[in-house]
Amino acid sequence: MRILIFTCALLLTCTGETKAQSDSSLLFSEVITKLENHSASVSTILSDKKYLSLHPQTSFRELVKKHSNDSTLIITTAGEPGKKIKVTGIVKDEAGQPVAGALVYLYQTDSRGWYAADAPHVGGNEGDIRHARLFGYVKTDQKGRFELHTIKPSGYPRSDLPAHIHIHFQADGYEPYGTEFLFDDDERLVGDIREQSVRNRFLISKPEKTAGPFEQQFSYSVMMRRR
Ligand SMILES: [Fe+2]
Repeated sequence: MRILIFTCALLLTCTGETKAQSDSSLLFSEVITKLENHSASVSTILSDKKYLSLHPQTSFRELVKKHSNDSTLIITTAGEPGKKIKVTGIVKDEAGQPVAGALVYLYQTDSRGWYAADAPHVGGNEGDIRHARLFGYVKTDQKGRFELHTIKPSGYPRSDLPAHIHIHFQADGYEPYGTEFLFDDDERLVGDIREQSVRNRFLISKPEKTAGPFEQQFSYSVMMRRR
């Protein structure tokens, strides 16, 4: 009897894991189909709560990267808690010429200051940078511009570091470049912390008024160096 109960428990566990993996595979296949037949954009996929469980997965992120060709990107679902913001950027070279077609990778915390769905940080294997739940890729247009629709991130819990969006740029013929977008109205961005942020060459933007569903807009200018 004891062996029978143990075997049943084992089977249930195995069946449960297999079903979770199967559900994930089905969702992933659905995303591949939608992106490859252009019935959905990267923004549509990233802002659909149905696919939130896929966000930390490397294969999903690679797929998103491969299909990111738009200069406007939405990375949050309609129900994501937090202040809706629009972030605009313009990328230029040392001569002030726009860098068109630059691939921009970004990731951020949510309104709790968390990168993962169930914890502030993702451990191991370059955790946050490779698995943050709120992330995306966007491409600069012919004028070097891009636009991001998201929620305002919060700073980490039990920390005095300011809220930020990590942002990385790469383009043919240019040195890869990474920085952080900070918010001038962040109450943590004061005193020594602010001075250190400036020394780190993080970019700070003042909030601007904006229309539509956004409570605030922040604009940043980025410079990439030619190789
Ligand atoms: Fe961070």
